[in-house]
Amino acid sequence: MAYILAIESSCDDTSAAVLNNRFLLSNMIAGQKVHELYGGVVPELASRAHAQNIVPVVHTALQTAGIKKEQLDAIAFTRGPGLMGSLLVGVSFAKAMSLALNIPMMEVNHLQAHVLSHFIQTQDYDHAPEFPFLCLLVSGGHTQILRVNAPFNFEVLGSTIDDAVGECIDKAAKIMGLPYPGGPVIDRLAKNGNDSRFKIAKPHIANLDYSFSGLKTSFLYLVRDGLKTDSGFVEKNLNDLCACVQKAIIDSLMDKLVLAVKQTGIKQVAIGGGVSANSLLRQTIQEYADRYGWQAFIPPFSFTTDNAAMVGIAGYFKWQQKQFCGLDAVPYARA
Ligand code: KG4
Ligand code: ZN
Repeated sequence: MAYILAIESSCDDTSAAVLNNRFLLSNMIAGQKVHELYGGVVPELASRAHAQNIVPVVHTALQTAGIKKEQLDAIAFTRGPGLMGSLLVGVSFAKAMSLALNIPMMEVNHLQAHVLSHFIQTQDYDHAPEFPFLCLLVSGGHTQILRVNAPFNFEVLGSTIDDAVGECIDKAAKIMGLPYPGGPVIDRLAKNGNDSRFKIAKPHIANLDYSFSGLKTSFLYLVRDGLKTDSGFVEKNLNDLCACVQKAIIDSLMDKLVLAVKQTGIKQVAIGGGVSANSLLRQTIQEYADRYGWQAFIPPFSFTTDNAAMVGIAGYFKWQQKQFCGLDAVPYARA
């Protein structure tokens, strides 16, 4: 049995979690409102907010779990990819705590953590896929179809050649004048929209790769031309615009996922990453699973956007294999 403290600070959320093996005892997340003013994450402000948040967030995570720091067996932390200054706060904190408590550390790759979030157990949730499975990883920085053979054995079957899907959604929101991050706002507004009102060009990319920059540009023209002909265009048609861009993105994601299942014969299909919080994507994956005989793995909402619970589960798999890291571990910005 191991009590693991996990820390995630790769972007703009400071999060700490405590796990008992695979079982989640607490998962605290402090968001950073400061970026809303700027329509995107400002790295320097993010690292400062992490520095302010990390002590209270870790304290609350331990308290909620009912665990004293002396009971901890190991510390897991996100080493990358992410914003350098943000990562540095979490990495330095983990090192200091590991040194003070004389317990080992596990370094975790943020993307692997998103994928492994399916293995977290809670009172209400214990629904892990078996290896191998496919995972559609969709976040603000990445869009990939992975074949997951073992906890740390991943094959990238397809990947975006330009923008990540979350980036495309956030930019579409920005074009419409919606607040950052746009994903949850588009999700909500699209519910009352007509998704066949506007035509948005569909990308045609070979193999299992994706492209979202053309879609983004096509959307930009749609909004701009609409503004030219009718000054109230955006306001009046916001719901329809959201529904159409969301549908174009999800159609594109699903086309390649169907192809990946066909090519690999693997029918366990998981989703992960911040965009897997999208209600239409979650519903669509389940519909495809019912139609094509897949088994769908859709993580609980709280494990989709950045959180430390997923870092903890990845850390637990490393703890099992005694894959510890030294005090010389440094963050890395890119995958
Ligand atoms: O995984 P994540 O929290 O951070 C990265 O690792 O990038 O993903 C953040 C992305 C943002 O682009 C955000 O707009 C998107 O996830 N997102 C959503 C929803 N909630 C968050 N996109 C669509 N629908 C949502 N409900
Ligand atoms: Zn993430």
